[in-house]
Amino acid sequence: MGLFEPRNAPERSDFVEPDVMTRALSVAAVENHFVANVYEKLASVYDVTFGPTLHPGRVQAIQRLGVKPGDRVLEVGVGTGINACLYPPETAVTGVDFSASMLEKARDRMARKGIRNVRLLQMDAADLTFADNSFDIVYAPYLISVVPDPVAVAREMNRVCRPGGRVVILNHFRSSNAMLARVERVISPLTVHIGFKSDLDLPAFVAQAELEPISIEKVNVPRNWSLVTCVKK
Ligand SMILES: C[S@@+](CC[C@H](N)C(=O)[O-])C[C@H]1O[C@@H](n2cnc3c(N)ncnc32)[C@H](O)[C@@H]1O
Repeated sequence: MGLFEPRNAPERSDFVEPDVMTRALSVAAVENHFVANVYEKLASVYDVTFGPTLHPGRVQAIQRLGVKPGDRVLEVGVGTGINACLYPPETAVTGVDFSASMLEKARDRMARKGIRNVRLLQMDAADLTFADNSFDIVYAPYLISVVPDPVAVAREMNRVCRPGGRVVILNHFRSSNAMLARVERVISPLTVHIGFKSDLDLPAFVAQAELEPISIEKVNVPRNWSLVTCVKK
């Protein structure tokens, strides 16, 4: 090579970890009935324990949804309906969750606050009963590290979103700090008992779910949660 010859640009594959498509997303494994049990118990305290601390992320996420009047929005894992007040009233929101107790809390909230643009349905996020391309925006706040199969849920979210629509995921993922990541891995089999896996692997999740994010932002305090915004092709 001559002295002033430009170095070849590295191939994209030089940056991609080799096992990203095959490695496990978490050391913890859960089943739907286990998760359902956890949330039946959490329902009465959810808003107090996971309300204010995770709220800055919810507020930032609503901005990234890019909601326009008349948009059809699907919130997957709607829980107690804590996001309901954040949607503009001129949007048609569908919230799904498989926990009857969480949905009951959400129904109470809708009645209490007079919210009329949100309908609630009991459904498994990994098996949505909507037709392809049914929504303009599909959003999962704090769900993806809760479910047994995050990739199956992301595929379902993508399927029911119309081409050009947004698929947005707000979640805690395994830290890029090696020490913290080790701790998150060790405690993940314990954190499932309070509703989530602490060690979900973001690069592997994005690759395996074939998501192509347009942005990934750090949110909340500390900034340990990620807001992943994608546009459906
Ligand atoms: C951490 S809460 C998130 C609630 C709310 N989205 C928020 O912003 O706080 C996770 C919710 O996902 C629900 N969930 C867990 N697995 C699910 C599944 N497979 N299908 C539908 N909902 C599920 C739980 O019942 C719970 O209400």
